[in-house]
Amino acid sequence: MTFQSSFDDKSIRIDADLVKSHLSKKQIDSLLPEVEKAAVTLHSGSGAGSDFLGWRNPADIVTDNELGRIKDAALHLQQDTSDLVVIGIGGSYLGTRCCYEALRNPGDPYVLHFAGINISGHYHLDMLSKLDGRDFGINVISKSGTTTEPGIAFRIFRGELENRVDKSTSSKRIIATTDKEKGALRQLVASEGWTSFVVPDDVGGRYSVLTPVGLFPLAYAGVDIDALLAGATETAVACREKSFERNPSRLYAAVRFLLYKSGIPVESLVTFEPRLEQFIEWWKQLTGESEGKDRSGLMPSSAIFSRDLHSIGQWIQDGPRVLFETFLSIESGEPKCTVPDIGESADGLDYLVGRDLFDVNKTAEEATRIAHAEGGCPNLGIIVRKMDAYHLGALIYFFEYAIAVTGYLAGINPFDQPGVEVYKRKMFELLGKPGFAKS
Ligand code: PA5
Repeated sequence: MTFQSSFDDKSIRIDADLVKSHLSKKQIDSLLPEVEKAAVTLHSGSGAGSDFLGWRNPADIVTDNELGRIKDAALHLQQDTSDLVVIGIGGSYLGTRCCYEALRNPGDPYVLHFAGINISGHYHLDMLSKLDGRDFGINVISKSGTTTEPGIAFRIFRGELENRVDKSTSSKRIIATTDKEKGALRQLVASEGWTSFVVPDDVGGRYSVLTPVGLFPLAYAGVDIDALLAGATETAVACREKSFERNPSRLYAAVRFLLYKSGIPVESLVTFEPRLEQFIEWWKQLTGESEGKDRSGLMPSSAIFSRDLHSIGQWIQDGPRVLFETFLSIESGEPKCTVPDIGESADGLDYLVGRDLFDVNKTAEEATRIAHAEGGCPNLGIIVRKMDAYHLGALIYFFEYAIAVTGYLAGINPFDQPGVEVYKRKMFELLGKPGFAKS
C-alpha cells in the first residue's frame, strides 16, 4: 500500500490516504525509479551542490574529540551562568531553536535566548531587560562571520557582558562558532582567545543543526545531543531503503513532487502541537532555500492549529485550491492533562469530562484533515512516534533527506542559496559599507 509507509523501527510513518483525490497509487509507484535515481545522485555525490553533502552521515560530522570539547565547554559555562544568548540568523539559529522549543520542559535550569535575527531596537532592549540580574554567556554563530544582523547583536550583548563582568570572565563566557579560518569572527577568536567551534566547510547553514552550530547551545540547554545524533544516524541508514512502503522519507519526497507537478504550488506544514512551531520555521528555511530556484519550487507555508483554524482555516477550507497540507504530529508519550469535572456548569462540556487533551486534540486533527480533504485540499500526515531527542534527530534527518531528494527530482541544486546574497549586497550598498558602492 503506497499511501502508508513506515521506517522498520516505526520511529516515523506517513499516512497519505487523503491525497487519493489528487494522486493515484499508480502515479506514485511509477515515480519509484526516478526517486531511486535522485537518491543515487545524492549518495554518490555526483549531483549539483556536491560540495555540501557533509550532513549525510550524522555520525561522521563531528569527531568524538570535538563532541567531548562541546560537552565540556557547555558544562563549564553552566557552572557560571543560567542563560545563553545564541546569536545567529537563518541556518545559524533555526535548527537550535527548533530543538530547544520542541524538547524543553517547565523548570529546565538553563535558558536560551535568540538574537541576531532582526535589527529591531525594541527587541534587543527587551532581551537586555530579560537578562537583568541573570548571569549569561554568548554563543555567536556565523559561518561567514560577516552577516550584519548577528554582527550588530553581538556588539550589543558583548558590550553588555563586558560592562557587567571583568575581561577575563567575559572572555570565558563567549563561545564563537564559525569558519575554521576565514571571516571577521575567526579573526576575533584569534585575538581574544575565545573558545571556538568550527562550522564544517561541507555543510550549508540549513543542514547544520547536527554540527557544532546546534550541538553546543543544545548541550548547554541540557539536550541529550548523543541521542539527537543517534536518531539522525539510524534514520540515515533507514533512508537507504528503496521501497516507498518502508521509506517514508522517499514517499514524502515523491508525493510533494507529484502534487507540485499536478499544479499545486504551496505546501503548508501544519501541526496541532504548538511546541513544534519552531520546527516548522526550520523546515521553511530547509525547503524554501533548497527549492526556490529558477522561478520554480514549492512555496513553504505553515499554520498552528487549533489557533489558525480560526484565521487562515477559512481560506484553507474555501479559498483558491493552490495548497496541500502536511500534518506533523506526535504519536505517543505526551503528558496527561484531562478536562476537569467542575460540577454543575452551563458550558456544555460535560460530555468531555475526564477525556485526555491528547485524545481530544487527535480527534480535532482527524476532523480537520477530513474536512480540508473534502474541501479539495489534499493532505498527508507525518507521524513521529514520540518527541524526545532521539526521535527529533530522526525527524530532522527525515526532512533533510526528503528535501535533498525532491531537489534532485526537480533538477535543481538543493544546496545553494544565491537569492539570499542579493538582499545582503543591496543592504551593504545602502548602508554604505566600505567596498560596496551604490550601483
Ligand atoms: O542557509 C544559509 O546558508 C543561510 O541562511 C545562512 O545560514 C545565513 O545567511 C547566516 O549566514 P552566516 O552563518 O554566514 O552568518
